Amino acid sequence: MNSTNGSRRAAVVTGASTGIGKAAAVELAGRGFEVFAGVRRDADAQALREAAAGITPVTLDVTDAASIAAARASVEAALGERGLAGLVNNAGIGVGGPLEFVGIDGLRRQFEVNVIGQIAVTQAFLPAIRRARGRIVNMGSISGRMATPFVGPYSASKHAMEALTDALRIELRPWGIGVSIVEPGAIDTPIWDKARTMTDEIERDLPPEGAALYANAVVAMRGFLEEQAKSGIPPERVAKAVAHALTSRRPKTRYLVGADARMQAVAAAVVPDRLLDRLVVSQLRLPRRP
Ligand SMILES: NC(=O)c1ccc[n+]([C@@H]2O[C@H](COP(=O)([O-])OP(=O)(O)OC[C@H]3O[C@@H](n4cnc5c(N)ncnc54)[C@H](OP(=O)(O)O)[C@@H]3O)[C@@H](O)[C@H]2O)c1
Repeated sequence: MNSTNGSRRAAVVTGASTGIGKAAAVELAGRGFEVFAGVRRDADAQALREAAAGITPVTLDVTDAASIAAARASVEAALGERGLAGLVNNAGIGVGGPLEFVGIDGLRRQFEVNVIGQIAVTQAFLPAIRRARGRIVNMGSISGRMATPFVGPYSASKHAMEALTDALRIELRPWGIGVSIVEPGAIDTPIWDKARTMTDEIERDLPPEGAALYANAVVAMRGFLEEQAKSGIPPERVAKAVAHALTSRRPKTRYLVGADARMQAVAAAVVPDRLLDRLVVSQLRLPRRP
């Protein structure tokens, strides 16, 4: 795949060590992109080099200004006069727990990684994106359309990404820079193992009154996470949506990925709140009102 000046198109993918980011890096490299893949560990950099030709790992922690500046400098040096055809803001973590007791530091961390980090990275790479009239793809989630109880911080961060994507898309229109958001349902990635660990930590850190109030809810959430983990579809499905957003003549503004995401999007749009609440309580097998 060649850009107008005859050199390869380049893309940056954040959070490319595992899961969707890695699949997106491999997919884009397979389509001829020169991919700069954000990682935080040497072992992940090595694994990516071995995963596909055309991937250059770049150390990038999206919450660290110095790390972003260094990544920008190394990508700009490699690009030279070329611009950046794509930025995939994929890095993300999930913080959960009952909002009544969720750790405020964890809540801040959720927004630092999933929201503020995405904009900091976007700001850093926009000059290069503008040179190539490139595109930006944000990794949202169906949780950005419909919040899940006990995953409130994560859902809130993905709602924020919906808003930022909409604003950015219109702001960048004058330069022909496309901005899309991908909204996957459950995807089979290490995020679910991390969610299990997180649930253990939530349970451990709940004060005695929190443990008493939310014991049944935590059990229900564990069951829900297990079901989600089992039903996840391959990350390559999301990678294809990312590639479409970056290469199609007519990229969509939003990409729902997975039957569960499509169903929930319809439900969120048409089902009245109170009925939706009851459906969620029943699906998650949450405790009912006494
Ligand atoms: N899996 C799903 O069901 C699902 C559904 C909807 C949306 N998503 C979204 O898809 C994205 C990727 O998630 P995934 O499912 O592929 O999970 P994953 O395998 O856990 O990948 C998360 C990636 O984010 C990186 N990351 C975390 N904190 C970072 C930081 N401070 N700076 C830079 N990178 C950081 C991780 O790097 P390290 O390995 O260095 O920690 C990892 O590469 C996330 O935005 C997630 O919210 C996932």
